[in-house]
Amino acid sequence: MSEVTILVRNNGPYRVYGPAKLVDADGNEYRIPEGEWFSLCRCGQSAAKPFCDGTHKGCGFEAPSDASLAAGRT
Ligand code: FES
Repeated sequence: MSEVTILVRNNGPYRVYGPAKLVDADGNEYRIPEGEWFSLCRCGQSAAKPFCDGTHKGCGFEAPSDASLAAGRT
């Protein structure tokens, strides 16, 4: 089984590369096959949450993409 990779995009969403499964609060499953991806909103402005709809590009969203500090790594 392949490992799920989550890419933190610069000033943008989390891009999740499949194979992966997202399950919403109602139990609906969204499966992403290997070689495909979806993006999860990180800015809070998407009208399609939890998915990114590109709104971050026009709302001035800025956030670090370096996870090392939050993970306690340097
Ligand atoms: S990160 Fe893209 S709309 Fe929020």
